[in-house]
Amino acid sequence: MRTPVIAGNWKMYKTVDQALDFMNALRERGEVSGVEQVVCASFVALPALAQATSGTGVGIGAQTMHWEEEGAYTGEVSPTMLQDIDVPYVIIGHSERRTYFAETDETVNKKTKSALDHDLTPIVCIGETLEEKEADRTQETVRDQVAKALDGRSSAEASRVILAYEPVWAIGTGKSATADDADEVIRFIRKTVADQLDHDVARDIRILYGGSVKPSNIDSFLERPDIDGALVGGASLDPNSFGQLVDAAA
Ligand code: G3H
Repeated sequence: MRTPVIAGNWKMYKTVDQALDFMNALRERGEVSGVEQVVCASFVALPALAQATSGTGVGIGAQTMHWEEEGAYTGEVSPTMLQDIDVPYVIIGHSERRTYFAETDETVNKKTKSALDHDLTPIVCIGETLEEKEADRTQETVRDQVAKALDGRSSAEASRVILAYEPVWAIGTGKSATADDADEVIRFIRKTVADQLDHDVARDIRILYGGSVKPSNIDSFLERPDIDGALVGGASLDPNSFGQLVDAAA
């Protein structure tokens, strides 16, 4: 069935040396089977990390990318550049990119298509703001974001996407959604995918929860059959804590 995923998003943390220290510590814990482990690091750490993963079972990811293969886009990194250094995952549409760097549903759609076209696995983030939650617009928001992200994709393509439901108000605040709430929204997202594409994709697509996940609360999410793992910020920075999350999902 669906292999669970624990994906760390290091955001703008860790120098190259710190990233390699993390990977060495993880290697000492030994490989874990039955779970897909991903670490999404800053661009500068990716080449070293991609070489340092052997014996760890970890896949490396970027935190964003451009949709074009090359061009006059100062500061951007392309999907072919990620392929070139053996980085197979990329986060797309994280709320911090949407809030601070003008990411829109349209660019999320282009990036998702481009990632799939280049055999990368996109981890596409969706989720409502506190304002939208309080206005009872959670379902409308996530339905719209999912519809726009997957618009134009075939069923085979969409089933290779990993969706991450991250309520914006739960990110980095220590206030995670309750497992009941996360489960309800994620089941709604699965239904949205079924309506938009088909039931097979809705059955196969991995949907993660993200927002203040830590070793002490991960079990409450993982015990829900529709929640396939977690996208983790703060608690992914420490190898022991990340390892505990991985162990919980294995
Ligand atoms: O991408 C990860 C999310 O932004 C969650 O971050 O675990 O620090 O709340 P957090």
